[in-house]
Amino acid sequence: MGSQVHGAQKFDNAKRAEIKFSDEAMKIVETIISRYPEGKQKSALLPVLHVAQAEFGGWLSPETMDYVASILNIKPVEVFEVASFYTMYNLKPVGKCVLEVCQTSSCWLNGAEDIVKYIEKKLNIKVGETTKDGMFTLKVAECLGSCGTAPMLQCGASYHENLTYEKVDTILENYRAEGKLRSYTDLDYKNTL
Ligand code: FES
Repeated sequence: MGSQVHGAQKFDNAKRAEIKFSDEAMKIVETIISRYPEGKQKSALLPVLHVAQAEFGGWLSPETMDYVASILNIKPVEVFEVASFYTMYNLKPVGKCVLEVCQTSSCWLNGAEDIVKYIEKKLNIKVGETTKDGMFTLKVAECLGSCGTAPMLQCGASYHENLTYEKVDTILENYRAEGKLRSYTDLDYKNTL
């Protein structure tokens, strides 16, 4: 796929050779694909990308997208088109915890801007940046469907609602103490299959 376009990231054949789902992740991927009719495996792309993102460090490298394309028997550029469209897929390395603060009406009216500023100051990063220790990335998001409990943020599959500065402190402390990658598949994905 070296000739395919993948934004600013370069394709590395050596890295590509190392990319492979664990047996457990592969089982999940196979189950997802089996939900679709023969020849329509491309429809499984979104959930398979979630598994890939969780499996390979929280982001989708060109090599990971190429690997997913090979599994779904589609062109790498088709994977890139989808992955680059949705903000929930990261196309460059991110921290273990990606904090997505909703900034739409209800959250904005209830102080989302101040929450973003508070996190920026506390973590010493700006929106779009990652802390030096690789623990947190700060993003803003459009309405995450939790308007009644604004302001809120999402980290992986978890929603944190009715945010206050104190709550933000606790959330960050807990995530730092756990020190693990949070993903959209955290909600015991296996049990939902
Ligand atoms: S406006 Fe923030 S969740 Fe809807």
